[in-house]
Amino acid sequence: MQHTLIILKPDCVQRRLAGTVLARFEAKGLKLVGMKLIQVSKALAEQHYAEHAARPFFGGLIDFITGGPVIVGVLEGNEAISVVRNLLGATNGAAAAPGTVRGDFSISKQNNLVHGSDSPESAAREIALWFPEGVVSYDIAGSTWVFDGA
Ligand code: RTP
Ligand code: MG
Repeated sequence: MQHTLIILKPDCVQRRLAGTVLARFEAKGLKLVGMKLIQVSKALAEQHYAEHAARPFFGGLIDFITGGPVIVGVLEGNEAISVVRNLLGATNGAAAAPGTVRGDFSISKQNNLVHGSDSPESAAREIALWFPEGVVSYDIAGSTWVFDGA
């Protein structure tokens, strides 16, 4: 089972779309194994988005992600990393396919509602960064109806 980090960004929280987005992840069959609502520090935001430090949008991105509270979580499931990225859709909400989170609720490149880890290496780095305390391990009722061989 893979783990992936999600961040419901400040625009998602402010637009009160957190429940709607989480419902899509749950309905797909992903299991929440970590979740908290926090105000992100500049230092944490810069570490999380370190790969974009040289990009022209970096300053704006840090202001955006620290501009209000976020809900950060860890999801578990079969191929969770690509499953979440596919549910989110393309980075630019204006181009994202209908049916995806960004395609249905975003029309912006920056204000695209939700982050999802993009590789196993990113997921491991990001989960350690946001959840140094670790995640929760538990069984979920009825999972044999969701996962093959689970
Ligand atoms: P994320 O990391 O948030 O899951 O998004 P992503 O992989 O689809 O996109 P990425 O290239 O990693 O960009 C990170 C976030 O930076 C903002 N962004 N703004 N103004 C711009 O041109 C621009 N480009 C990217 C978005 O919030 C994007 O999700
Ligand atoms: Mg990314």
